[in-house]
Amino acid sequence: MFDIVVRGGILPDGRQADIGIRAGRIAAVEPLPAEVAAGEVIDATGDLVSPPFVDPHFHMDATLSFGIPRINASGTLLEGIALWGELKKVMSFEDVRDRALAYCDWAASMGLLAIRSHVDTCDDRLLGVRALLEVRDRVKDYIDLQLVAFPQDGVFRDPTAWDNTMRALDLGVDLVGGIPHFERTMKEGARSVRALCEVAAERGLMVDMHCDETDDPMSRHIETLAFETQRLGLEGRVAGSHLTSMHSMDNYYVSKLLPLIAEAQIAAIPNPLINIVIQGRHDTYPRRRGLTRVKEMQAHGIRVGWGQDCVRDPWYSLGTADMLDVAFMGLHVAQMTHPDEMRRCFDMVTTQNAAIMGLEGYGLEVGCAASLVVLDAGDPVEAIRLRPDRLAVISKGRIISRKARNDARLSIPGRPETVRRRHRAPGDG
Ligand code: FE2
Repeated sequence: MFDIVVRGGILPDGRQADIGIRAGRIAAVEPLPAEVAAGEVIDATGDLVSPPFVDPHFHMDATLSFGIPRINASGTLLEGIALWGELKKVMSFEDVRDRALAYCDWAASMGLLAIRSHVDTCDDRLLGVRALLEVRDRVKDYIDLQLVAFPQDGVFRDPTAWDNTMRALDLGVDLVGGIPHFERTMKEGARSVRALCEVAAERGLMVDMHCDETDDPMSRHIETLAFETQRLGLEGRVAGSHLTSMHSMDNYYVSKLLPLIAEAQIAAIPNPLINIVIQGRHDTYPRRRGLTRVKEMQAHGIRVGWGQDCVRDPWYSLGTADMLDVAFMGLHVAQMTHPDEMRRCFDMVTTQNAAIMGLEGYGLEVGCAASLVVLDAGDPVEAIRLRPDRLAVISKGRIISRKARNDARLSIPGRPETVRRRHRAPGDG
C-alpha cells in the first residue's frame, strides 16, 4: 500500500519507472503491478519526473518589490543597492513577510522546493531577518529555506553591520555571507573575507559570499576566499556567488586561479538572468556579458550551480520562480548548447544545486524525501527548451500542486482535423 503512486514517468537519466511514496519517503522506484494499492495515482506516462528544482541564490527580502519606491533607472548594481536602501526605510515586517510568502507560493507551483536566500543584515531593526525567519518556519512543510546573513552595505563599510550580522546569526540565520567588492578598498574587502570565514569556522557554519560581482578584472576576492577556505579547513562548505569579474580577468591569471578554487572545493553560483543585465553597463562595444567561466570551472572539477538571484525587485524587473528560465538563459550566455551541456544545465538547477545547499534526502532513490515534479516534457533537454507546465508537484509526501495538461487545439484552414498545439518532439506523450 502506497500513499501515492506516480505512474510511468521518465526519470532525468532516461529510465522509465513507477514511483511509490509512503510516509513522506520514496518507497519504490520500479515497475509496479497495475493492481497495487495506492491512496492516489498520478498518471505521468511519458512525462519527465524530476527531483525538485533548487535555487541556491535568492533575495527573498527584496522580492516582489519592483517599483517601490521607484524604478532603477540606470539598471546598474549600484543604483539597485541605493534603491534597496530607500525601500528598507519604508518597508514593514509584514511587507517583507507577505511578499516572501507570496513568492513561496509561486516557487512551490513551479516545483522549486529548496531555496537559499540571502537576507540583508544592515538594519539595526533586523526587520528582514526576523521576517524571513518566520517565513522559513511557515513554509518548512513544503519548502526548505536556507538563510544567509548578508551585510548588503559592507560588513566594515557600514558602521553597525558587523554587530548586526552577528546578531542575525545568533537569531538562527543559517550561513555567513559577505560582499567584499563593496567594501571601501580591495584591502578592506580581503579583510572582510578573512573575518567572516573565521566566524563561519568558529560557529561551524557554511559560507556563501557575493564575490567579485563587478566588471573590474582586478577584483580578486575569490583568490582570498579560496585561501581562507583552505587555511580554516572549510573545504566543501564555501560557495562564491556571481564571480563575474572572472569574465574579464587576464587568462594567464585565471589559469592559476581555477586550480586554487578547485583545491579549496569552493562551489560557484553564477546568476545568469541578473549577470547578463547588470554587468557591462559601463561598456560601449564590444559589451561584456559578465557571466563567469562556467565551462572552464566545470572542466577543472569545480561544482557550479545556476542561481536565480532576483524576481521583481530593485535589480531585476522580470522573473518567474522558474529555474528552467534560469537554465535557459545560462546555457545561452555560457554557450552550453551541446545536448550533453544542456543536460548538465538541468543537473545544475537540480542535483548540483542540492549538493551546494547540502540538502539531505534529495533525489529519486528509495529512502529519499518524497519530493518531485512532473513536467509536460519528455526529457531534461526538452524541459529546458519548452519550460513546460508543472503537471504535478509533490513535496515531502504531499501533492501540493496540480495542473491539467494543455490541450489547446490548432485549426488550420483546409485541414479536416484540429491538432494539439504542443511542441513536444514527435512521438512523445
Ligand atoms: Fe545576490
